[in-house]
Amino acid sequence: MGKTLIFGGTFDPPHKGHRHLLEEALKQETFDRVLLIPSFIPPHKSHRPALSFEARAGILQDWFKDIKNLEISDIEQSRGGQSYTADTISALSEQYPHEELYLLIGSDMFLSFEAWSRFTFLLKQVVLVVGSRKTGDLEQLRAHRERLLSLYECKGIILCNMEAIECASSDLRARGEGLAERALSHISTHLDVARARHTMQVADYARYLAQKFGADEEKAYLSGLLHDCTKCFSHEWQIDYLKEKGISLSDADLASPQILHQISGAIYAKEELGLEDQEILSAIACHTTGKADMSLLDRILFFADSCEPTRNYQAVEGLRKCGEQNLREGVAALLERTIQYINEKNQPLHPQTEEARVSILKELSKNG
Ligand SMILES: [Fe+2]
Repeated sequence: MGKTLIFGGTFDPPHKGHRHLLEEALKQETFDRVLLIPSFIPPHKSHRPALSFEARAGILQDWFKDIKNLEISDIEQSRGGQSYTADTISALSEQYPHEELYLLIGSDMFLSFEAWSRFTFLLKQVVLVVGSRKTGDLEQLRAHRERLLSLYECKGIILCNMEAIECASSDLRARGEGLAERALSHISTHLDVARARHTMQVADYARYLAQKFGADEEKAYLSGLLHDCTKCFSHEWQIDYLKEKGISLSDADLASPQILHQISGAIYAKEELGLEDQEILSAIACHTTGKADMSLLDRILFFADSCEPTRNYQAVEGLRKCGEQNLREGVAALLERTIQYINEKNQPLHPQTEEARVSILKELSKNG
């Protein structure tokens, strides 16, 4: 009999807590198949997820591509309506009659398990695999397991003895007084799937770099979420929009249409999405070209945009390694590469990029 591990959730957005939970579960048992099931409308939430199903599934695919035999299932999306786990398990039991089903949940879900729809059916049908979401809650989880085993017919309950990572999608969305929520909803509705996936990777990588180099992690995350907010709008639309907002473009700006979105993106994030933070606005406004005297956050976003984990051009691994050790050197190397690439392609070089290079080389020579 094969073993299938089922991990459902809203994944809105996926975060390192999800990854950690799954990795810990995979240490407990050997599974023949792992099914990740993004929910359509979660029963405990009244709203649809901020990110579209395609965006969430795409991000999950990227994040978990190294895990063997993992599939992203659209079973709840295809069924539509509220996504009750019992309905999903019922359907999967029919689909895979010879599989033993394991259901992975976080400790918060486990402690409120008796509130789930048809929970006694679920307890009979699946082995629960419970991962801790809060430090020091193992005793409480053990007691709850004993309680459930004594009261109901249970197929099995496995508790993962793991270090908890306290991270929730709702926390990520709640940051910036609803700004992240608005950014995610914008990503879902105005960016294509590839751009949405890239955006989520930039946000996560920028946060990682911020943690590493002592910058504000929340600002880095938000700058990543918002940096490409106008990237999927046409150039004509962006030019008209900037004109309407009284922003004049230089000849150099107009000569490099691919950089237009850093200017329109900063204005759009401010005017339409309510971003007021000057540091984040500055980082968005130079994330493609760079500029002289870049701040730490400017550098983090500039670097994260070009070196996020799914970028796969030839030089990227070397750049990543360099920048993760010394951000200033990484940005300098990235600027060199960008200038070389633009020259090879015979494209016009934006003066800000040259200014950024000169400025950072000066800094490097000063700092030995
Ligand atoms: Fe980007």
